[in-house]
Amino acid sequence: MEYTIREDEGKDLVMEPLIAYIAGNNTATSIKPVYKTEETALYNGDCLKIMARFPDNYVDMIFADPPYNLSNDGITCHAGKMVSVNKGKWDKSDGFDSDVEFHEKWITECRRILKPSGTIWISGTSHSIYQCGFLLQKLGFHILNDIAWFKPNAAPNLACTTFAHSHETLLWAKKDRKAKHIFNYDKMKSGVFKEDKMKMPDKQMRSVWSIPTPPPEEKTFGKHPTQKPLALLKRIVASSTNEGCLILDPFNGGGTTGIAAKMVGKRMYIGIDLEKEYIDMTANRLKAIARQANLFT
Ligand SMILES: C[S@@+](CC[C@H](N)C(=O)[O-])C[C@H]1O[C@@H](n2cnc3c(N)ncnc32)[C@H](O)[C@@H]1O
Repeated sequence: MEYTIREDEGKDLVMEPLIAYIAGNNTATSIKPVYKTEETALYNGDCLKIMARFPDNYVDMIFADPPYNLSNDGITCHAGKMVSVNKGKWDKSDGFDSDVEFHEKWITECRRILKPSGTIWISGTSHSIYQCGFLLQKLGFHILNDIAWFKPNAAPNLACTTFAHSHETLLWAKKDRKAKHIFNYDKMKSGVFKEDKMKMPDKQMRSVWSIPTPPPEEKTFGKHPTQKPLALLKRIVASSTNEGCLILDPFNGGGTTGIAAKMVGKRMYIGIDLEKEYIDMTANRLKAIARQANLFT
């Protein structure tokens, strides 16, 4: 039986209709999540193929941390040691044109599936962020902010030939200049989390966020080479979504966005990653959060 999405679906915390829609009615081409709960679905595969199965105008917020294409066999510093910068096959550049083509494909698909009021966050460094910013503008998005995520504990520049790279950029954009987007201004102004180092009561939150790289306790279930800190994603989720919102991360990695959605609470989350290892790591992190939540209820 073919499943069609009702216009009001997505407003309540029900993941099942969307999972059925994505799966489709042909068992030979069906796409199913490898892990799911009432609020979460994790898919293992290419985000272009899986996003193509989503209905139009459906997702409230997308956080995308795409490959930065910086794995060029160079060296960097990690925990005081000289190590390779290579993150994995998925992070190799196929050349400028091919990288831009890939970014254009996935950002176009994100635009199609975002609600008119939806917003997209894209993170990157100088290797990729200008390409993504150019494409956001080319495709008609309106950029709301470019946040500088400052890493106070960033690694030094071993070659001593440049300033130490100590920030990443997060672009936040909506589909159209006139669209009404979610921004929880008051929560951001007063500071919502204990660990929020930018808490400045009664002052507007600014666009430079000082947040350290993930602490060891966030790597208990395995290590992802480019894992984002939970404090960063919790702030993003809390500022730009409300209860009942559907959040998508097409480059799920270690699942930080999904864990943040669960911790902020009452959000639906879909994560997609090429690597099964990272999807399993995310499922284990989510199960641990659920166990902790049960202990306190
Ligand atoms: C920069 S990492 C994301 C890290 C994540 N934000 C976190 O906090 O752990 C990018 C991820 O995208 C995945 N990836 C790369 N190309 C992909 C594609 N075409 N479809 C789905 N996932 C992809 C990689 O396997 C990698 O885990």
